[in-house]
Amino acid sequence: MIVDIGTGDGRFVSRSARANPRKFYIGIDANAKPLEKVSMKATRKPAKGGLPNALFVQAAIEDLPPELDESADEIHIHFPWGSLLKTIVTGDARALAALRRIAAPECLLEIVVGLDETRDRTEIERLGLPRLSEDYLRGELLPKFAAAGFEAAGCGFLPPAEWSRLETSWARKLQTGGDREVVYLVFEAV
Ligand SMILES: C[S@@+](CC[C@H](N)C(=O)[O-])C[C@H]1O[C@@H](n2cnc3c(N)ncnc32)[C@H](O)[C@@H]1O
Repeated sequence: MIVDIGTGDGRFVSRSARANPRKFYIGIDANAKPLEKVSMKATRKPAKGGLPNALFVQAAIEDLPPELDESADEIHIHFPWGSLLKTIVTGDARALAALRRIAAPECLLEIVVGLDETRDRTEIERLGLPRLSEDYLRGELLPKFAAAGFEAAGCGFLPPAEWSRLETSWARKLQTGGDREVVYLVFEAV
């Protein structure tokens, strides 16, 4: 099972579910509004664009449903914002414990964070976010993920040509201009 947290309008889940009908996808977001359209569409008959292998759930990362415990083979978090962004880039212990709780053995956790120091200054200051330097990522953030049971398998900065290919609505929105530094983090549950 593949879980997308902070799924927004669910584009990643619906695209992936259509491309991989034998895999099951769950899109989770704290905000129900953007989930409405995509979840209605998923319940249609398959001939009318329905997706029997996709499900959408309203929940916050801090409070993931216990029904998901030990069930995710992959967890994706693409372009988090607000409290989701804060929990991820500060390595919040409660959120990481919730991620580890829903992870099946050897679960892959993929995180893509895109921040523009100028354009996103207000949000960076409001949330009190650290600068995502190589030193911070390797020296402070990865050890917090390791302590929560996620061993780093990859960490670095993505060039626009790579992150703009991601099948999410925010990857498409953010393509235009700016000086966006996109960080990717990949872990395996241990
Ligand atoms: C910038 S959007 C990205 C949406 C999608 N992943 C994409 O790439 O198009 C960030 C999403 O994170 C969700 N979010 C914010 N805080 C959250 C939390 N604590 N738990 C779960 N989702 C949260 C927001 O509601 C929003 O839909």
